[in-house]
Amino acid sequence: MNNTLTTFVVPVLYLLSAVLFIFGLKGLTRVRSARRGNALASLAMLIAIVTTLLDLGFVDYQWIIAGLVIGGLVGAVAALKVEMTAMPEMVALFNGFGGGASALVALSILWKEVIEPSYTESAAAVLGGASAITAFLSILIGAITLSGSLIAFLKLSGKIGGQPTLLPARHVINSVIFLGCLAAGIYIGFFSHAPSAMVMAALVATILSLILGVLMVIPIGGADMPVIISFLNSLSGVAAAMTGFVLGNNVLIIAGALVGASGLILTQIMCVAMNRTLGNVLFSGFGQEGGSADSGEYTNVRSYSPEEAAMILETAESVVIVPGYGLAVAQAQHAVKELADLLQKRGVKVSYAIHPVAGRMPGHMNVLLAEADVPYEQLIEMERINPEFKTTDAVLVVGANDVVNPAAEKDPKSPIAGMPVLQVWEAQTVMMIKRSLSPGFAGIKNELFEYDNNMMVFGDAKKVLQEIVSEVKSLNAAA
Ligand code: TAP
Repeated sequence: MNNTLTTFVVPVLYLLSAVLFIFGLKGLTRVRSARRGNALASLAMLIAIVTTLLDLGFVDYQWIIAGLVIGGLVGAVAALKVEMTAMPEMVALFNGFGGGASALVALSILWKEVIEPSYTESAAAVLGGASAITAFLSILIGAITLSGSLIAFLKLSGKIGGQPTLLPARHVINSVIFLGCLAAGIYIGFFSHAPSAMVMAALVATILSLILGVLMVIPIGGADMPVIISFLNSLSGVAAAMTGFVLGNNVLIIAGALVGASGLILTQIMCVAMNRTLGNVLFSGFGQEGGSADSGEYTNVRSYSPEEAAMILETAESVVIVPGYGLAVAQAQHAVKELADLLQKRGVKVSYAIHPVAGRMPGHMNVLLAEADVPYEQLIEMERINPEFKTTDAVLVVGANDVVNPAAEKDPKSPIAGMPVLQVWEAQTVMMIKRSLSPGFAGIKNELFEYDNNMMVFGDAKKVLQEIVSEVKSLNAAA
C-alpha cells in the first residue's frame, strides 16, 4: 500500500494540485471568475498539504495541527479586519512570511541532513550540488523577501516614515554584503568543515540576507511600495520554487514558479503604466508620498458647487466617471454607484474609465467598484475609453489626479512624461472632485485644473457625491 501511495497516488494528487493552481490563477484574471479561481487555488493548497502529509507517513500531528489552527486564525482575522485601502500592507506581510517560511525550510534541511548527523563534508557532497545551491538561494531570497516585506509593511502602514532613506555609497555597501553572503553560501556548499563552522556560515548567510532585504527597500519611497510589494511577491515565489527543488517537491516548484512569474509580470505592468523601469523604482529613490506643487501656482481655477455639478450631470447624455486614489480614501464607491444608478434611470449613458495604476495597488479601482456592485461591463479600460472622450458630455473625476494629468502627453519635461493617461480634457465638461489643489502621488502640478472646460468641486469625495445624489434626487422629484 505504501508503495502504491508513493509511486502512484502521491504524484497524481500533486499533479491535480498543480493543475488546480494553474486554473485558479487563470480564474483570477477576470473579475467574474475570480471567486472561483480563489476557491480552486485554496482547494489546490488543501490537496497539496494533505498529499504531503500522506507522503511523509507518520509525522507528529500536534505541531501540524497547532500550526494550522494558529495560522488559520491569524489569516482569517486579518482578512476579515483589513480595510480595502490597507490591502497592500497585508499582502506585504504575507509575502514576507512566505519568503521567511522558504528560508526556514531550507535551513532546517541543512540542519537535519548535513549539520545534525555531524558530517564534515560539504552540503554539495551530502545533498548533491543542485540541492546545495538551491538551498542557499532559498535562504538568500527568502530572507531578503522577509525583511524587505516587513520594511514595506512598516512604510505603508505609516509606522516608519515613507521617505526614501538614501545611505551614502549604498550600492557599494549592498554589493559588499551580497558578496559576503555569497562567500558564506559557497563555504556551506562546497567546502568540508566542522558542523559548528557550518552553523556559523548558515547564520552569517541568513543575517546578511536579512540586512540586504532592509537595505534594498529603505531607499524606496512609500508611494512606490506597491511596485516593490509585487516584486517581493515574485521573489517569495522564486524562494518557494527553490525550496521545492531542495525537497524534490514538484508542486512547490510549480506553485512557486507561478507566483514568481505572475508577480514579475504584474511588476512590469505597473512599471509600464507609470512609465518607469524596475531599475528606476529600485534605485532612484523616487516616490515620496505627497508633493511639492503648491496651490498658489494655479491662477484660472473655476469651482462648482455640488448643486451646479448635479445640473451638468442631469443635462448630459453621456457621463464617464474616473475613479482614483481619493475615491478609495473617502470610501465613496457606494455613493458613486448610487449616483450612476440615478443617472442611468434618467437615460444617461454612464461608464467608468479605469486607468491601470489608478489608486495605490493593482486592480484597486476594480476591487472597490466591485464591492459596490458596479456592473463589470461598465468598467472600460484606458485604451478603449480614450477615443470616446471626444464624444462624452461630462466627465466626473473622483479623487484622481495623476492619471488625468495632460502634462504626461503635453510636457516632455514632466516627471510623468510618456505615462499613458486618460484624456478626459477632450470631453465637453470635466468636473474634478477633490479636497484641494494638492498634487497626487507624483507631486506635480496638474494644468487640467486651469482648463476652460474643467470645474473643481472641492470637498471629500463621499460627502460631495452624497450631496450631488440628493441634488439629482430633488431635481428628479421636481421634474
Ligand atoms: P493621485 O494622483 O495620487 O491623486 C489622488 C488625489 O485624491 C489627490 O490629489 C487628493 O487630492 C485626492 N484625495 C485624497 N483624499 C481624498 C478624499 N477623501 N476625497 C477626495 N479626494 C481625495 O491618484 P490617481 O490619479 O489614482 O493616480 C495614482 C498614482 O499612484 C499614479 O501616479 C500612480 O503612478 C501611482 N501609483 C499607483 C500604483 C498602483 S499599482 N495603482 C502603485 C504605485 C504608484 P486632495 O488632497 O486635494 O483631496
